[in-house]
Amino acid sequence: MSASAAEASEYHSKDFNWDTLRLEIENDPSLNYHLLPFVSPQPEQQLTKDPIKAWKSFHIQHSSGKFFKERRYLLKEFPELVSCGDGCKVLEVGCGNGSTALPILRGNEKIILYACDCSNETLQRAKEFVAASNVASVENRFRPFYCDFATTGFPKWLACANCRENLGQKDQICVSDVGEERTLETGSWSMEERSCCVGGVDFVTLIFTLSAVPLQIMPTALRECFSVLKPGGMLLFRDYGLYDMTMLRFEPDQRVGFREYMRADGTRSYFFCLDTAKNLFNCAGFIELEIEYCCVKSVNRRNGKSMQRVWVHGKFQKPT
Ligand SMILES: C[S@@+](CC[C@H](N)C(=O)[O-])C[C@H]1O[C@@H](n2cnc3c(N)ncnc32)[C@H](O)[C@@H]1O
Repeated sequence: MSASAAEASEYHSKDFNWDTLRLEIENDPSLNYHLLPFVSPQPEQQLTKDPIKAWKSFHIQHSSGKFFKERRYLLKEFPELVSCGDGCKVLEVGCGNGSTALPILRGNEKIILYACDCSNETLQRAKEFVAASNVASVENRFRPFYCDFATTGFPKWLACANCRENLGQKDQICVSDVGEERTLETGSWSMEERSCCVGGVDFVTLIFTLSAVPLQIMPTALRECFSVLKPGGMLLFRDYGLYDMTMLRFEPDQRVGFREYMRADGTRSYFFCLDTAKNLFNCAGFIELEIEYCCVKSVNRRNGKSMQRVWVHGKFQKPT
């Protein structure tokens, strides 16, 4: 088996039972603080750490690209990205340096990939990694842009207000605030489409991005994703699961909410249980197709310690 195939199957496996892990954790007194209800901080405390600023500085500090690791298992988890046909549009939200974008572009040469992030620094790194990848016609198919999807939403050129209301109706005529003949400039690339907007996307990928958004604005963030998807389009989700090893490492003073933590650098992480994820997606209008825990045991190469990783894998569809 090749190294990448081995890695893909490793990430795909189920190494332990999540309910057994839950019992162990919930019966361990030293971990009890993770289970306690959270007392809301004062509003001024919440304002001191802007999550977007924190991500911007994170990317400036890690600009060497050392953290870049292509998610090779991605297409195994989401094979619909391989089978989608000509002109298929995918939006990767919170693309970072392209760990998810690159395998998608590599795996299907028909895909046009829009990729946004709230950090220009990381978008630059993503462009460099993608450009150096030798993937076929990648310069035309990779379309990165700056955006804070959770607070300001996606730009109108992706889906204008009119299209958001009517997305998916075949042969629809767009009416918009952008002239027909105008080329829509996004910064690094310009669109060929001579219409009001791109017309929405077939897939949205949210891979370890929703957990970075404060819980209280997740509903808005998901509605935004819903609004740019075509009817029948799918949102592909992977993120931190409840009782993942990285959650248990947070200290009591790093809690900023129930199952929500802030790292020393100000970036946040939320840990999803299946019910919370289901509820968030259902409330945003999605139909649940798949949702499960992925439980993977791995060994830390440096100290030989076994680590129990928990992720939530989900697929959600916009009704037709
Ligand atoms: C953990 S990384 C995941 C990157 C990528 N999706 C992957 O698979 O590796 C989370 C990314 O989301 C970005 N991000 C966080 N909040 C965001 C927001 N409100 N709008 C856009 N990007 C955001 C961060 O800058 C970061 O690059």
